[in-house]
Amino acid sequence: MSFVGFIGLGLMGKPMASRLLKAGYEVVVHNRSPKPVEELVALGALPASSPREVAERSEFIITMLPDNPDVRSVIAGTNGVIEGVRKGMVVIDMSTISPSLVRELHKMLADKDVDLLDAPVSGSTMAAEAGTLTIMVGGKQEAYERALPLFRAMGDKIFYMGDPGMGAYTKLCNQIAVGLNLLATCEVLLLAKKVGLDQQKVIEVLSTGAGNSWQLTTLGPRIIKRDFRPGFKVQHLRKDLRIIREIAEQLGLPLIGISSVAELVKALDQKGHGTDGTQSLITLLEELAGMG
Ligand SMILES: NC(=O)c1ccc[n+]([C@@H]2O[C@H](COP(=O)([O-])OP(=O)(O)OC[C@H]3O[C@@H](n4cnc5c(N)ncnc54)[C@H](OP(=O)(O)O)[C@@H]3O)[C@@H](O)[C@H]2O)c1
Repeated sequence: MSFVGFIGLGLMGKPMASRLLKAGYEVVVHNRSPKPVEELVALGALPASSPREVAERSEFIITMLPDNPDVRSVIAGTNGVIEGVRKGMVVIDMSTISPSLVRELHKMLADKDVDLLDAPVSGSTMAAEAGTLTIMVGGKQEAYERALPLFRAMGDKIFYMGDPGMGAYTKLCNQIAVGLNLLATCEVLLLAKKVGLDQQKVIEVLSTGAGNSWQLTTLGPRIIKRDFRPGFKVQHLRKDLRIIREIAEQLGLPLIGISSVAELVKALDQKGHGTDGTQSLITLLEELAGMG
């Protein structure tokens, strides 16, 4: 029986930790607020009071946190994972963060003979619940192979991408497609509404042709129902696009399309939609179009 630590039990982390419990692992859980810890303890998880304690009681440690500063403080801060690890352990960060931070933490943990894998995911809360996430992994191949049974409990499309940071880069590539397809979905529905088309029928038609996307078929119907509850929060997409633009700047890449989406998503967050789902982007476009 392996003990797996899980830190960060939000929209994604909670169902992912549940999948590990269902697969028969002993799961040691920690979160900033207590409610999701209580919910998982009711399902058989073991509570821990700090990231350090999670590390002391586990063989593998998974983190699923919002942004770079959260991952840095949970892994490398006071009472952090790094204070509780032992030689030979594997830490797996599944959040979407900067590849440069992945490499920095990889080096810090390597100095303690501990491996770090960057293993961000795609597929939303529904895929997290169903155990059908796409998982893209960077880090040492030997550590990847040791962690594979855990990935298989949470996902069914698992890819080894290479050195530390390559999982994180793959996820950022994914987020370029997510951002642009989200904007495309909103613009499709805006035009359809303006000219009096049946928006649902437009989604049906486009989903059979070359204009199809996950954003269109999953978030399109929620936009029509004005269901803006979060699967993926605006504030997290803003963070992903910020990281992409920082990298584009460093590399001199003209990422023009996704930079426009980044500005729109920033404005949406600043208007108070940070914890809404990303499909709420439609409200900003409607306002710009005088259709709000
Ligand atoms: N949602 C999606 O569809 C999706 C899909 C793929 C990837 N992602 C990425 O996965 C990551 C997590 O996303 P999410 O949607 O699950 O976010 P979320 O719902 O905001 O959850 C984040 C969790 O981390 C906890 N947390 C924050 N700081 C902490 C700390 N210092 N110590 C312990 N726990 C802490 C939060 O606790 P509180 O309860 O106190 O807030 C919350 O439970 C993000 O990087 C996101 O970009 C999300």
